[in-house]
Amino acid sequence: MKIVGTGSEIPKKIVTNDMLSEFLDTSDAWIYPRTGIRHRHVISDEKLEDLAISAAKKALDNAGLSASDIDFIICSNVVNEYITPGLGCIIQGGIGATCPAIDINCACAGFIYALDIAETHFQAGKVKNVLIVCAEEPTRMTSWKDRNVCVLFGDGAGAAVLTAGDNIKGIKLSTASATDKLYQIRTLEPTPYITKQEESISLQMRGQDVFKFAVKASSGDIKYLLNELGMSPDSIDHYLLHQANIRIINTIRDFLGQPESKFPTNVETHGNSSSASCPILLDECNRNGILKRGDMLALSAFGAGFMSGAVIMEW
Ligand code: ACO
Repeated sequence: MKIVGTGSEIPKKIVTNDMLSEFLDTSDAWIYPRTGIRHRHVISDEKLEDLAISAAKKALDNAGLSASDIDFIICSNVVNEYITPGLGCIIQGGIGATCPAIDINCACAGFIYALDIAETHFQAGKVKNVLIVCAEEPTRMTSWKDRNVCVLFGDGAGAAVLTAGDNIKGIKLSTASATDKLYQIRTLEPTPYITKQEESISLQMRGQDVFKFAVKASSGDIKYLLNELGMSPDSIDHYLLHQANIRIINTIRDFLGQPESKFPTNVETHGNSSSASCPILLDECNRNGILKRGDMLALSAFGAGFMSGAVIMEW
């Protein structure tokens, strides 16, 4: 398959580090050097589904296709207002498509897992065009009293349209169950039969463990693919990594021995928008002319689970 269109949508509300320090014991002087984040876009009066639908429509427009051309929709989402139906169903109606839609929850690695599922559908000859939409509002998962976590995240949606082609050179997925490092727990409706203790817990993160995992998993997934394909890190033109923390990106870059110019970033202005991060960055690079047809791209993401993945593709 190949990507023929991209789109993204982010909330209009910008929250700077200085705004956070008005109600949290934090500061730009702490946040920026440790994360590379200056501000993030946060959902206020928008609905995540509307951002997702807008990103999808932009991707379709960019691809020169209409909703009726899409055979399958894959939506990557960790949380939204609906428990059911799936966000993919809402997006399907919102863009006026009639094809099947599924949701996946692979945390921040969702775009890579969605690409893998799409590739399998192309290989099986089941589809001509696929729409992937990654839509996330992690700012609704964190406690805004917890400076360890809430300063890191922003919201948004990114989308990609895929059609038949041989541009995907390899995909590597990795899962290593470590559910105490990064998690959130919600309580469900009580029943007369529930006897266990239940408690909602906002997003919890062991930051340094996540940092180490992120570097090891992302550089490992990319190096695995490069080895499999007989390629060197030099043969990649652009590394589009999950935008969680500039220090994580820089450490992965050091492991790969590559120049900063190959690593476009938007973490400074977006924060970490979970699985939407990679496709938003892809869309920005597509629209601002950084990507040229024929360029070799490595995309890589990591997140709760732990789940990670990488893809090497020709643009
Ligand atoms: N402002 C001020 N002080 C803070 C803040 C804050 N926002 N957050 C934590 N601190 C304090 C801590 O309380 C601690 O204080 P103490 O020493 O008095 O106990 C001190 O700063 C140091 O805290 P550390 O956690 O050791 O700081 P560290 O240098 O590890 O940086 C960070 C923390 C930025 C979270 C880092 O560990 C990191 O980036 N980890 C990866 C996080 C990540 O990428 N998560 C998401 C990936 S997966 C996904 O995308 C869902």
